[in-house]
Amino acid sequence: MGLERLEEVRRAFLADLEAAGRDPEAVEKLRIRYAGRKSGLLLELTAALKTLPPEAKRDYGRALNELKKLVEGKLKEAAAAAKAAGGGGRAAGEIDITLPGRPLPRGAEHPVHLVRRRIESIFLRMGYSVEDGPEVEDDWHNFEALNMPPDHPARDDQDTFYLAGGRLLRTHTSPVQTRVMERSEPPIRIIVPGRVYRRDSDLRHSPMFHQIEGLVVDEGITFGNLKAALETFLHELFSGVDVRFRPSYFPFTEPSAEVDITCIFCGGTGCGVCSRSGWIEILGSGMVDPRVFEKVGIDPERYTGFAFGLGLDRVAMLLYGIPDLRLLFSGDQRLTRQFA
Ligand code: PHE
Repeated sequence: MGLERLEEVRRAFLADLEAAGRDPEAVEKLRIRYAGRKSGLLLELTAALKTLPPEAKRDYGRALNELKKLVEGKLKEAAAAAKAAGGGGRAAGEIDITLPGRPLPRGAEHPVHLVRRRIESIFLRMGYSVEDGPEVEDDWHNFEALNMPPDHPARDDQDTFYLAGGRLLRTHTSPVQTRVMERSEPPIRIIVPGRVYRRDSDLRHSPMFHQIEGLVVDEGITFGNLKAALETFLHELFSGVDVRFRPSYFPFTEPSAEVDITCIFCGGTGCGVCSRSGWIEILGSGMVDPRVFEKVGIDPERYTGFAFGLGLDRVAMLLYGIPDLRLLFSGDQRLTRQFA
């Protein structure tokens, strides 16, 4: 007995009320059960008042009165509604299809997903197809076939999560290059979006993040093709920017280039986002190293190709002005709702 019991009865009443709907008989049964003059539940609850210690009586009495008002008011409404339904009302449990639906909140696409779809649509229009690969990888696909033998210093840049049995969480989407080249004949023209993992966490790094990889292999592919594809892509994604190629190094491409765009916040004059340089690094790229072709069984005398990779989360941060990478993975709806 006490306040909890009142709450219990209140909930039970509301549930029973809903079940009774506009069926006159059910509503009458409900009235007898709760507000009946000889043995209704309200009567019982009133009698219980006497058994309470004096200091509990006031609160209990007040809550009991509220409950009485609620029950009587709702019963009156329900009886009127049942009468209006004219006996043709529904039986308990039946669905009233004339009731208006309950509104559902509108969902929103995650900013990383939005960026992925935008990038995919640009490359799909250029004739690429979308490929996929496992997140749990082996050393061969993630490193070895990409020209990174066990003692290769480039492995240190990619602090790897190792799993039992020599497996690992892929540190980039490049192992899907390996897999696709192993199983298919050129011409190859693919992009590969996906999750990747590195042991790293701060404002700009998260142990899980997203990349999108690109790979084109055919006869006669040149660095000029690489440049044209990436410039077209970057001008579509960020309108009005300048693009520049800087010589760089990746074990699986030769020559390699990193690609920058003029800062989309200051237009190239220098600001906090671009560390006053006017440029923002956007992707890594290069011509597929012939040694990679040999490892995956593609004839390097006949074919050439280019590859590139970029971080989707970074692009989302730039395009939507998101200050902390970790916000993207916090599950905080105050962020995602802004994209509805
Ligand atoms: N896999 C590289 C990285 O994660 C990016 C890259 C992809 C560079 C393809 C060149 C070609 O840093």
